[in-house]
Amino acid sequence: MDRGIRDVDDVLRLLDDLFAAGADRWTDGAAGWWDAFYADRARPVPFFVDKPDENLVEWLDRGLIAPGGRVLDLGCGPGRNARYLAARGFTVDAVDLSAAAIAWAEERAREAGAAVRFHRGDAFALAGTVLRGPYDLVHDSGCFHHLPPHRRISYLALLDAVLAPGGHLALTCFAAGAMGSELDDADFYRESRLHGGLAYTPEALRRIFSGLTEVELRRMRDEPADSARFGEDFLWAALFRAPRGPAGDPPG
Ligand SMILES: C[S@@+](CC[C@H](N)C(=O)[O-])C[C@H]1O[C@@H](n2cnc3c(N)ncnc32)[C@H](O)[C@@H]1O
Repeated sequence: MDRGIRDVDDVLRLLDDLFAAGADRWTDGAAGWWDAFYADRARPVPFFVDKPDENLVEWLDRGLIAPGGRVLDLGCGPGRNARYLAARGFTVDAVDLSAAAIAWAEERAREAGAAVRFHRGDAFALAGTVLRGPYDLVHDSGCFHHLPPHRRISYLALLDAVLAPGGHLALTCFAAGAMGSELDDADFYRESRLHGGLAYTPEALRRIFSGLTEVELRRMRDEPADSARFGEDFLWAALFRAPRGPAGDPPG
């Protein structure tokens, strides 16, 4: 007889466990699944290319994000954006569940002479300890849409714990109508799987991140194969800013 629930973390773990064994893509238990995903580096997976996201480059070039601060790249995979951010003067922490992804990212960073601190593990478990804020930028390209609905609570708690006052969240995720599952939140629990990731509408993103100020929310632009940037138009590219801090400061 299990009476284990005492706090919110217990509830979140119980909800994790409602998913079918092979459906996990977001806890430490999913590391092996992602390792297999990254095992063949020659597979034609769009984000295996060694290019930064077009929106990230643009936001830096337009001055919407100031270069040179501290950044956390969440679910960094083989580290293409982490390396780019290091080259733009950021001090970079990058985290991923998959040891295979981190090994690949470290190899690429070594070859490029990029200084990035890579961490293997669950970002939500490491936030506030190994991944110590404050970060001026939390960057996430393609991790958020692999989280089940209840883990948005962990995601917002991570932002609360590590994002600097006035800092930015830069997020790309599946766009409803173009990519990802459009099931209602409750149906993911009924079906006990995430169907390859969750689609989001702009309204849903605005509601989830309503504690932050929207700076820009647009579709990522498709980039041709010979472009130096990565771009797929089935993704949203969203930039949000955290409130600047104590009363008296200008509003976020
Ligand atoms: C679609 S891939 C994107 C990789 C990379 N950001 C890119 O765009 O090249 C999503 C990544 O999120 C990672 N991930 C998922 N849940 C995570 C968690 N709780 N902590 C750390 N990484 C996680 C996975 O291991 C996977 O590498």
